[in-house]
Parts: sequence; structure tokens; C-alpha cells
Amino acid sequence: MDSKRITVPAVRAMKGVKRIGMITAYDYPSAKVADAAASDIILVGDSLGMVVLGYPDTLSVTVDDMLHHTRAAVRGASHALVVGDMPYLSYHVSVEDSVRNAGRFVQAGAHAVKVEGGKPSRIRVIEAILDAEIPVMGHVGLTPQSVNALGGFKLQGKNLVDAHRLVDEAEALDQAGCFAIVLECVPSELAAMITERVSVPTIGIGAGPACDGQVLVFHDLLGLYDGHTSKFVRRYANIGDEMRAAIEHYRADVRDGSFPDDAKESFHAASADELRALYGEGVVIEMPKAQ
Ligand code: KIV
Repeated sequence: MDSKRITVPAVRAMKGVKRIGMITAYDYPSAKVADAAASDIILVGDSLGMVVLGYPDTLSVTVDDMLHHTRAAVRGASHALVVGDMPYLSYHVSVEDSVRNAGRFVQAGAHAVKVEGGKPSRIRVIEAILDAEIPVMGHVGLTPQSVNALGGFKLQGKNLVDAHRLVDEAEALDQAGCFAIVLECVPSELAAMITERVSVPTIGIGAGPACDGQVLVFHDLLGLYDGHTSKFVRRYANIGDEMRAAIEHYRADVRDGSFPDDAKESFHAASADELRALYGEGVVIEMPKAQ
């Protein structure tokens, strides 16, 4: 392993020392930018189903989709720890199947995998993946792969029973050996309580400032996604608008003939003699002035 690379033990050791900056990325250019910006962790999230593949949720994303994007993101990341998000049905059928699928992420270059949920049957799967020497990041609260069971993308842990269940799940993930736990869309107070109770870093998204780190979706942070964005998203740029303006400018230049410039952006035959040899004598040839 590259000695400059952030490792799983290094992430664990960041708890209470420095806040962890995680961002999603889904391909070589996005991972390269995230890595150059000193992100600690790059999550190849199954959110790619929505922000890259245009599905309404993450449920249609397959292991093959994820591996394709994981390989590309890994090639762009030389510093950050790369976590591959296990998609729906890749760890729901059997323990054996789950371990094999997790192993495929490692073979695609991921350093760890992320699994949603913390109920007892999920803990057994996570323990088996850990037993295969694959580090696991947990994820509780709003777990998007459970969108149908939860009845929508909604704040979780609002009542006492749910809040207790989420604390129990997070503690179980910690005890099972997860190296970090994503807390998604839960009240800040609950996230603060979980953060205090678990020994590993919590990484929040819509979970308030008390978490040990934060994660945002690349396309949300940069203003590249025009679907619904949650209250918890802070948009740091409007790259989508800039991209559209640039492409409109290009299209206008093509229409009015100002792109490409014949001198600066085109190639030319070496000499008028060469062109005469190609087209024959008698052809009037104008060579552009050298720049
Ligand atoms: O898929 C994803 O992007 C995620 C993050 C929101 C944590 O799971």
C-alpha cells in the first residue's frame, strides 16, 4: 500500500483528534479532484444511481455498476481511502454471497466497503465480511436502500423507540468491528449521543455538527444535480450552471463560425507546394499566416 494513503486504522485514530472529510466520487475525474482537495475518504456511493445514472433512487444499482465506477474512482485517488458502497441485494441474500460481493469490491481496488443497516441479521453479514479481512463502514439512520420500507427519504430517529433502535444499531456496528459509521438524516442530538457512545468515528450527512466527520454527495456539493436536494446539503458551487453556459457559448461559436479558429485551432498542410501536389496545378491555395 502507498505510504501516503490514508488507511483504515488512520481513520479510526482520527476520532476526537481531527474531523474527517468524506465525499462521494464515481469516476476518474471526480475522484482525482476529490483527492487533490485532500479528502480523507472517497465513497463510491450507490447514490451514483441517482446523480450519475438518473434513476429515482438507489435500488436499481447493481454490483457490476458499482465495480465499474469503483475501478475508475480508484485510478483517480492516490491519497484518500476509497470505500465501495455495496448496493441493494448484494448483501441481502446470504452471508456467503455478501462476502463474495464484498471481495469483488476489494479486487476492484476499494480499501473497504460500506453496508447499510445494523439489525442483527445485518451484523452477522458484517462480521463475515470483516472475517474475510475486508474493513466495513456502517451506515444507520436514513438508509436509502430501505426507502420503500421507510416510506420515503425521511428524517429518522424522531421518536424514542426509533432513537433507541438507532443507538442500539450503531453500538452493534461498533462492537462488530466497523471502522466508522455513517449517520444519515437523524436529529443532531441523537447523532451527538451516538458519537459519544461509539468508539469509532461517526460521519454525518444531515446529522448535525457533533459527528466526527461529514460526507456530502459530489454532485450536491458542486451544484451538478438538478433533482431534489435536502436541507442538509450545502452547495459550494454552481458548476452545473457554468457547464451549461460554456456549452451554450461553444454551440453559438459553432453556429457563427468562430470555432474553430483556422489559425489557432486547426492543422494545415506543411506548404502550398504539398497542397498543389495533392490537388493539382491551377488550384488557388491560401495558406494561413503563421501565428
Ligand atoms: O451513496 C451514498 O452517497 C451514501 C452517502 C450519502 C453516505 O451512502
